[in-house]
Amino acid sequence: MDNGFYIATMGCQMNEYDSESLAQALMEYGYQPVDNPENAKIVLINTCTVREKADQKAMSLLGRMSRIKARRPGMVLGMVGCLAQKEGKHLFHRFPQLDMVAGPRELADLRSILDAVVLQGKRMIATRLDLPPSNPAKIHQLHEKKVSAYVSIMQGCDNFCTYCIVPHVRGREISRSPREIIDEARFLVAQGVKEITLLGQNVNSYSWEDRTVSYNFVSLLQAFAEVEGLMRLRFTTSHPKDLSDDLICCFRDLDILCPHIHLPFQAGSNEILRRMKRGYSREQYMELVCRLREVVPDIAVTSDVMVGFPGESLLDFEETVDLMGKIRFDSLFSFKYSDREGTLAARMDQKIGEEEKSRRLSRLQALQRHITLQKNRALEGKEAIVLVEGCSKKGGQMMGRTDTNKIVNFYSNNNKIGDIVKVYIKRSFVNSLWGEPTH
Ligand code: 5AD
Ligand code: SF4
Repeated sequence: MDNGFYIATMGCQMNEYDSESLAQALMEYGYQPVDNPENAKIVLINTCTVREKADQKAMSLLGRMSRIKARRPGMVLGMVGCLAQKEGKHLFHRFPQLDMVAGPRELADLRSILDAVVLQGKRMIATRLDLPPSNPAKIHQLHEKKVSAYVSIMQGCDNFCTYCIVPHVRGREISRSPREIIDEARFLVAQGVKEITLLGQNVNSYSWEDRTVSYNFVSLLQAFAEVEGLMRLRFTTSHPKDLSDDLICCFRDLDILCPHIHLPFQAGSNEILRRMKRGYSREQYMELVCRLREVVPDIAVTSDVMVGFPGESLLDFEETVDLMGKIRFDSLFSFKYSDREGTLAARMDQKIGEEEKSRRLSRLQALQRHITLQKNRALEGKEAIVLVEGCSKKGGQMMGRTDTNKIVNFYSNNNKIGDIVKVYIKRSFVNSLWGEPTH
């Protein structure tokens, strides 16, 4: 098809959001989504570079797409997103088939980049980070119908945790205007979306001021509570150092806000937290979780953690294990520390070997599996409120999520996608629950 496009998305929710926005821009430009890169005129790879593994995955996909392009010279091949930002023009040397490289901040200007590539046959590179706030393409019609969608409220990050490449590839923090954000949410709701997840690297520091209004994150959440037809609101990611008591109280005061918070802790040792420049101690973190549970006893708390940060001793690691045992997260994403060029941690000494990192990671993952399973077991025999998102992989079943973000599968003949259903939980597993509708 000579007007088909194909976007491969890697990495985080922000990339998924950016890819949807790219798809919108391409459709506005007259292109149509296709399922197979072999049939596409434009192929874009939206990349991540948070860990070295992400780089390797993106490079190998770029190799595969380059081979397709070698057979189909009319195809336009682009690499966009965080790895594109980091590698810049080096990618052109390594991949002669590549036509364009664009960082995350440049994506709002896709059209002029594509014009230069498609109409003038140029190779284009766009990796500026100091652009004024740009708006993603307006959503006219979602290219895939869905009940749950993302809305970005800010770009970039100013925290500069010592291990993290995000501020280097996504630039400084800039908030979008509340009007644009709410308009986008209304658009989505009109398209059938029932649940919105607000996205930002650090949503708590959302801030907007103009001549007429002044908003912080709490006032933005309050404005969302007024969006008619929206049934559920979530946000990610919050930084523990900026989690205000006002925000914690929103979980109690705003019905629309789901009782789930993703609050990365990264390490349980104060010395490691200090070297990561996280800006809080393990005691402060535990205090925050206590307060959250005091305000909303059943709130689900999930987190990110990493093992093998430079200089992490066995004692430091035990402090992470200890914190996990004390907090008992509902679920946890855990990673091996990975050196990122240009970050402060990459220049620290006392690096931990790969084998040791793997050993620590398996220990931590085994513990979390146990905790998650126990927490899910405790839900057996209880009722859960589930927003139906689709059909599960196993035929005949529906799949949805509880307000606490747990996956529930159940059989039903009379429910449809987008319904809110009461489900009686009968069985629990590590990654999902299974039940029956209560009616
Ligand atoms: N190495 C390993 N994990 C990392 N993360 C961020 N940077 C690195 C790195 N250099 C993890 C953090 C973050 C999540 C998105 O990825 O835990 O919260
Ligand atoms: Fe990966 Fe971070 Fe970029 Fe998301 S923001 S795609 S996690 S590097």
